[in-house]
This record gives sequence, structure tokens and C-alpha cells, in this order.
Amino acid sequence: MNFTQQLLVPFLYALSWNPTASSEQTCAIDSAPTEYSLPSLPYAYDALAPYISSQIMTLHHSKHHQTYVTNLNKALSLESSLTESADIPTRIANQQAIKFNGGGHINHSLFWKSLVPASSPHADTSNAPNLAKALNADFGGLEKFKDKFSAALLGIQGSGWGWLVKGVENGKLDIVTTKDQDPVEAKYVPILGVDMWEHAYYLQYLNGKADYVKNIWNIINWNEAEVRFEGGRADVFQVLQSKI
Ligand SMILES: [Fe+2]
Repeated sequence: MNFTQQLLVPFLYALSWNPTASSEQTCAIDSAPTEYSLPSLPYAYDALAPYISSQIMTLHHSKHHQTYVTNLNKALSLESSLTESADIPTRIANQQAIKFNGGGHINHSLFWKSLVPASSPHADTSNAPNLAKALNADFGGLEKFKDKFSAALLGIQGSGWGWLVKGVENGKLDIVTTKDQDPVEAKYVPILGVDMWEHAYYLQYLNGKADYVKNIWNIINWNEAEVRFEGGRADVFQVLQSKI
């Protein structure tokens, strides 16, 4: 594994892109998208109101997420031109840009699909029967999980994300947090993620972060959570295979 791959491996794994793959898998690498695009929201900007305002959703999706996508594509383009460069500091700085903006694209793509209008049937926890059994086994029930997850979200210092994850190896559920735009580690399947950056709530909730966390339970897409729980990382990250 060369120097660039060593730097990129954690991120590439998050993209289900394995630089040590076999020749057969390499075909998939060659066909991997070189440019990413902003995914459409699966609902209207005002569909999550009153729990998340139309103004927040509009800015969050069309400005913040778009910026991560734009900057990811710029960094990936620069990376390809730096392949033979001896300017290691520039290459390292660009790796950081790929990590930050790639993570931002991953995390937000998952986030939009984790939410659903409160009026949708998918907002009902009955859509996640197998996940509910696992939550009962690993946390003592849905309400206890929600309490623990909410506490984890409110315990995040600065900008970051809270996640319900499933262990790839043992299938056990756990709660983890990630800093800034770091994606969930490769050893987990992300089931549910909540954006705790101020841009996700401040325009509506101001310093009332606890109310944002309390209200978000009204708009969780439990159908999507069940699908992710039943699947693997490749299924979850399929959203990233879209190309312009
Ligand atoms: Fe965000």
C-alpha cells in the first residue's frame, strides 16, 4: 500500500472503496464515480416543519451540503493531479479536505434519508420490528435507547454527529459520536445519524439544543432504520455511488 493509500484508507473504506481489493473488485473501483452530486431530498423543504423549519432545510441542503459536494469534487480532482507530486504537505492538506468534505457528503446523504415527515407512516416505530427487538436486547427498550441517544447527542462538544450503529462483526447495537464531519468507522453500519452542528438547528431553536433533540424523534424514518439494520455497509453507502 503506497503513501497516498495509507492516508486514504479510512475514508475509502467509508466509501466502500477498497484499494487492496482483488482484480475482480478493481473493476468496481475503476467504475467508481469521480464526481459526486447533491442528492435530492426525498421530501419538500417544508415537509419536516414544525420540527425542522423550511428555512433550515433549504440552507442546510442547498448550501451546506452542496458546499461539501463541491469541495469534495475539487479535492478529488486535485488529488489526481498530485499523484506523482513530491509536495507532501500539499498532498496531506488535500487528504484532509477529502476527509472533511467527503465525510460531510456521506453524513448528510445518510441524514436526509433518516428523516421523514411526521405524517408519514414511516415515522411510526412499528416499521422497525427487528430493530426494536435489538434495541430491547442491547438497551433495554426503545425509550431507554432514546434517552441514552439523546444524552449522547447533547454531550457532543462543538460540531459533530451522533449515531446508532451496528457492529459489522458482532451485529451488536451501540451509540457513537463523531467529530466534525468524520464518518462512522468501518467497523460499524450506521443505522441512524443526527447532525449536531449548529447549522442543523440554530436558526429555529437558537440555544435550545435540547428541544431540537427532543423534537427530532417525531421525524425519524424508522422504515429506513430497519432497512439499514437488516443490511450491511455496502447497502447503506449505496447513495454515494451516484454520479453527475
Ligand atoms: Fe449539517
